[in-house]
Amino acid sequence: MVAPDEAPFLLACRRRPSPHVPVWFMRQAGRALPEYRARRGSGSILEAIHQPELVAELTLQPVRRYGVDAAILFSDIVVPVAAIGFGVDVVPGTGPVVTEPFRSKEDLGRLRPLEPEEDTPYVVEAVRQLASELSVPLIGFAGAPFTVASYLIEGGPSRSHARTKALMHAEPSTWWALLDALADLALASLRSQVRAGAQAVQLFDSWAGALSAVDYAELVLPVTRRIFDGLADLDVPRIHFGVGTGELLGLMAEAGPDVVGVDWRVPIDVAWSRIGEDKAVQGNLDPAVCLAPWDVVETETRKILNQAGGRPGHVFNLGHGVLPDTDPAILERVVELVHNA
Ligand code: CP3
Repeated sequence: MVAPDEAPFLLACRRRPSPHVPVWFMRQAGRALPEYRARRGSGSILEAIHQPELVAELTLQPVRRYGVDAAILFSDIVVPVAAIGFGVDVVPGTGPVVTEPFRSKEDLGRLRPLEPEEDTPYVVEAVRQLASELSVPLIGFAGAPFTVASYLIEGGPSRSHARTKALMHAEPSTWWALLDALADLALASLRSQVRAGAQAVQLFDSWAGALSAVDYAELVLPVTRRIFDGLADLDVPRIHFGVGTGELLGLMAEAGPDVVGVDWRVPIDVAWSRIGEDKAVQGNLDPAVCLAPWDVVETETRKILNQAGGRPGHVFNLGHGVLPDTDPAILERVVELVHNA
């Protein structure tokens, strides 16, 4: 475990002055790294996640390579639903796929509470190992109810989230029961990760940006708030992230996190004013920019640092995950630049 008063990442999450702007990258473990491709093996990521030693190694790889200020547990947002037997797999190149999607209130019977120590002992074990080995804080995470619900209802990745939106409007009681069950899973999983040594948590509502602000406020925000409230006593920074959330940033802040993640669509200073000065912000370099030559990446990185203006409470990150074609050397240079700015 890292002393909370000394880790730049934890200081920034609390909006306290830090010796440098901390930086980490969503999906920092993954196919962009040759050492990841060498160790990951083939087969579903869910099989890899069952092996604590491998998980610890894949979590550590980007910390060694990039010198980032935080590690994020190598896992996936569908691990809890898979562990309670909903029938989910993660197909390489596609993402989560559900054999029998959630279609009606009868499917609620296929969900049950998560007992992390029994259902996902491999996750708890990996977090324990990492907490004792790491020199930077470990971020635990979970998928937010809307985003996980979308995978369960659509049966896989979706552009329109049409069935999900239809269900939320047509059958509110089924919707709330589903979201409540998924919120309980996220909460149980996050609490167990913190108990095992995670020093911050991130709730990924990756696809929330598909919703209007009104629908988000009425049909998603209340359960999200319940998750953040349910973590308050643990006293670890809570990060809330989604993509395409420019119109939702104020509402996402109202849900009660300490830090709000921002994608590249809104300049970080504008985003910060929507979120409120009483929260920290995380972001927001466009991952696609990292495929351009270094001088372009440097200009865009400096732009973000200038917009944040050195105010305490900025955690540098990408606006979404590292793209597999990214040259790791570019990300190494981003870390160096952010640290020396
Ligand atoms: O380094 C890290 O960020 C930690 C690991 C991590 C993974 N998934 C590993 C992974 C995290 C935080 C996630 C969360 C996750 N999973 C999200 C939320 C974050 C986001 O990107 O918005 C979502 C939507 C998922 C669902 C999911 N799992 C997708 C869309 C994919 C990609 C499918 C593909 O192959 O392109 C996965 C698989 C997955 N999860 C990989 C990794 C490293 C892909 C590579 C592999 O199978 O080895």
